[in-house]
Amino acid sequence: MNEVLNSIYTRRSIRKFTDEAVSKEFIDEVVKAGTHAPSGKNMQTFRFFIMQNADSILALQEVVGKGMENPSYTFYGAKAMIIVTCNKEDVNGVEDGSCALENMMLAAHSLGLGSCWINQLKYCGDKPEVAAYLDQIGLPEGRRVVGMLALGHAAEEGTAHPRKEGLVTYLD
Ligand SMILES: Cc1cc2nc3c(=O)[nH]c(=O)nc-3n(C[C@H](O)[C@H](O)[C@H](O)COP(=O)(O)O)c2cc1C
Repeated sequence: MNEVLNSIYTRRSIRKFTDEAVSKEFIDEVVKAGTHAPSGKNMQTFRFFIMQNADSILALQEVVGKGMENPSYTFYGAKAMIIVTCNKEDVNGVEDGSCALENMMLAAHSLGLGSCWINQLKYCGDKPEVAAYLDQIGLPEGRRVVGMLALGHAAEEGTAHPRKEGLVTYLD
């Protein structure tokens, strides 16, 4: 099996990370893979904001937890968080950013890293207190959060989920 297919079939969402930091070289590579995702009309609407500082990650986790009214909210101990945004006016922004997130998950896996898409900032990012925090840390005005990627060295294998029946239909 070729490497791309192998990566696709063996990637898992990882929700437990070791204490080992992720090297800048690996983060750069993962983000680069994100920037190489396809995009509608090649508009490259995705923007990537990378957080590596442990205190900053915990602070963001707390803000999102409050925004979601979930005191036990967690980023699973990720060693880096990558926030993917587009502009609210970008017609294909969510699709472009989603392609970027998938590219990054596969790239991370191919480098031996674990990752997990984290969604909640998408839901609470426009709440005034959360939005104010995102302004403060430097996310641009007019943004739409597509999703976040938790990144680290996997402390567990992840679960293989069998595919559901009836996902695929060949038409005449
Ligand atoms: C759009 C989207 C949003 C997701 N949001 C979350 C999330 O907020 N938290 C989480 O733990 N996993 C999240 N996931 C991961 C899914 O739960 C995971 O992909 C699914 O259970 C299948 O497992 P696998 O990725 O190991 O194949 C998300 C995945 C996608 C594609």
